[in-house]
Amino acid sequence: MKKQKRPEIICRCNNVSRQTIEKAIVDGCDTLNKIFDATTAGVGPCGGSCRRKLGPLLEHYLQNNEFPEKITEDLTGKFPPDKK
Ligand code: FES
Repeated sequence: MKKQKRPEIICRCNNVSRQTIEKAIVDGCDTLNKIFDATTAGVGPCGGSCRRKLGPLLEHYLQNNEFPEKITEDLTGKFPPDKK
């Protein structure tokens, strides 16, 4: 029997799961802004604290073509790299 993993919520403001975000990335979101538009993650009232996870998740996928097992949060403030 397959173990059912509980969905990992990345964006607590808008209740967006990692699964939703990964699907959006696979479907072609290759910038944070596209992820914001496609999933509403990262644009909640907290001001986007989950971007620390979204950035590394996206970067890891773009570099390795797969998602990391564990997301290493980016605390350097490097993300989001694409400014308005
Ligand atoms: S947790 Fe994602 S915008 Fe607040």
